[in-house]
Amino acid sequence: MKKIVVLVSGGGTNLQALIDAEKSGIIKGGRITCVISSKDGVYALERAKNNDIPTRVIPRKEYSDSLSYSKAILAALNEEKADLVVLAGFMTILDECVTKAYAYKIINVHPALIPSFCGEGYYGLKVHEAALAYGVKVSGATIHFVNEEADAGAIILQGVVNVEKDDTPEILQRRIMENVEWKLLPQAVSLFCQDRIEIIDGKAYVK
Ligand code: GAR
Repeated sequence: MKKIVVLVSGGGTNLQALIDAEKSGIIKGGRITCVISSKDGVYALERAKNNDIPTRVIPRKEYSDSLSYSKAILAALNEEKADLVVLAGFMTILDECVTKAYAYKIINVHPALIPSFCGEGYYGLKVHEAALAYGVKVSGATIHFVNEEADAGAIILQGVVNVEKDDTPEILQRRIMENVEWKLLPQAVSLFCQDRIEIIDGKAYVK
């Protein structure tokens, strides 16, 4: 069984999707052993506690820079003996001391079709605001490995939804979560835990 450590910063609906998928047997070969939050008091921590998953809070605001914060995260991941790290609404970019130590072992969910509306500054509702401002007719979510560049690691899975004329960022966000994120993130985690993702020339393929 692979040990899955989930990093969160907010409401944790993607964490909930992972917990539900583990319970219903959709995730094969792995289990969530720890949830780490970058903020205290977020609802994601309640979701973990309600399901008897150990939690840690490593507050971003207590660290002066990304490197010192990333070192604290790295130490926690090593202590937890993480086989897979999932960024599920984790709103901090990790330094390469983490991404190099866990190369092809960190999976992120990004709420747009990478390479659109991604990179530094594109997170949460900002992503959907940008997609609506551009006037794209489809959007979606991307599940990808995390490397040294924000939102630029190998893509594992992507899914698409239509953008409707009267969409608000909140409505589009919800449609993408329900139809794509909550399904594809557990699916990608399960594929990883069964060693069914292979990397060829820096790109990810499902075996
Ligand atoms: C999700 O839509 C996730 O894709 C996004 O934040 C939301 C978190 O929701 N992540 C990013 O924007 C990362 N760049 P959740 O806390 O309910 O899972």
